[in-house]
Amino acid sequence: MKALLYSMTPEQKVYVDQWNKEHPDDDLQTTDDDLDAKTVEQAEGFDVVSVLQVFDLDEEEVYRKLASYGIKHIALRSVGYNIVNFDYAHKYHLLITNTPAYSPRAVAENTLTSAMYLLRKWGPILKNEREDLNFVREANLMSDEIYNQTVGIIGVGRIGSATAEIFHALGARVIGYDIVENPANEAFLEYTDFETVIKESDILSLHTPFTPDLEGMISAKEFKEMKNTAVLINAARGPLVDNKDLIAALKNNEIAGASLDVMTGEEAIVMKKFNDISELPEDYQELVKMPNVVFTPHSAYYTKTSVKNMVNQSMTDAKRVLSGEKPVYPVDE
Ligand code: COI
Repeated sequence: MKALLYSMTPEQKVYVDQWNKEHPDDDLQTTDDDLDAKTVEQAEGFDVVSVLQVFDLDEEEVYRKLASYGIKHIALRSVGYNIVNFDYAHKYHLLITNTPAYSPRAVAENTLTSAMYLLRKWGPILKNEREDLNFVREANLMSDEIYNQTVGIIGVGRIGSATAEIFHALGARVIGYDIVENPANEAFLEYTDFETVIKESDILSLHTPFTPDLEGMISAKEFKEMKNTAVLINAARGPLVDNKDLIAALKNNEIAGASLDVMTGEEAIVMKKFNDISELPEDYQELVKMPNVVFTPHSAYYTKTSVKNMVNQSMTDAKRVLSGEKPVYPVDE
């Protein structure tokens, strides 16, 4: 198998090199570039390409050229597959696979970290001590304890259920909503409807994939229905939350805080460094000043386990497809 892995980083490269060593018949090559119409030509001569990027693969040229090189498979190294244009994938007979099991725990543990950070008011505590050298235990810094909280999970798939399990183990009441209910999850979560999760959660965490019908799933109406002591955690996909409505809800104290690993417009900031706050997109300029908001750079997934598994699982499927076997993780719309 001759594979080209786009968007390569040194941490992933370790596992690419290991794969090449352990599979002498394979030739995995890498490029730092994301896949787009400008970089697709690098794929000529390869059997398969692999992608890990937040930018949409929305240029027909990319799919047309890959097909013209005889490539039949794009092996995503991500859980999410919302970047794919399936009309073009179908038109050019390109099979898509993803890596949904690289480590649901990675995102679940990051969600726990976010929840505890917000619950224990570490944002304002850090602001007080770093900006004002203020170490006073002010009344507004008093917290609650996790086992008194209701944790609401929207989207109870692999990541949502791993998250629910962790909070259940800590004694929290965990409620969840999904269009498909899995009875096995009832050991640690109570299924209910979307509105109840919105209204009753102290910690509301999103774990659905992104599809266009879910754009703005959490908007002004939901913020008004949420408890004003509740916090929102989004480590799923940015467009699930309406940025403007989120900013308004935080300013009007309709909710108490937010942890955002993803956000609409993140392409402009993730993996980039800035010199001044004025260089950030407007939404970020507003949110970054709020001590009850924390951003992480789409890094909820980013653990050693995930990085290793995303390389190995994507290449395992690449090999299966090339040898005529069914892939483990095919995806379609
Ligand atoms: C995913 O795997 O879906 C992620 O969100 C990781 C990202 C770097 C694409």
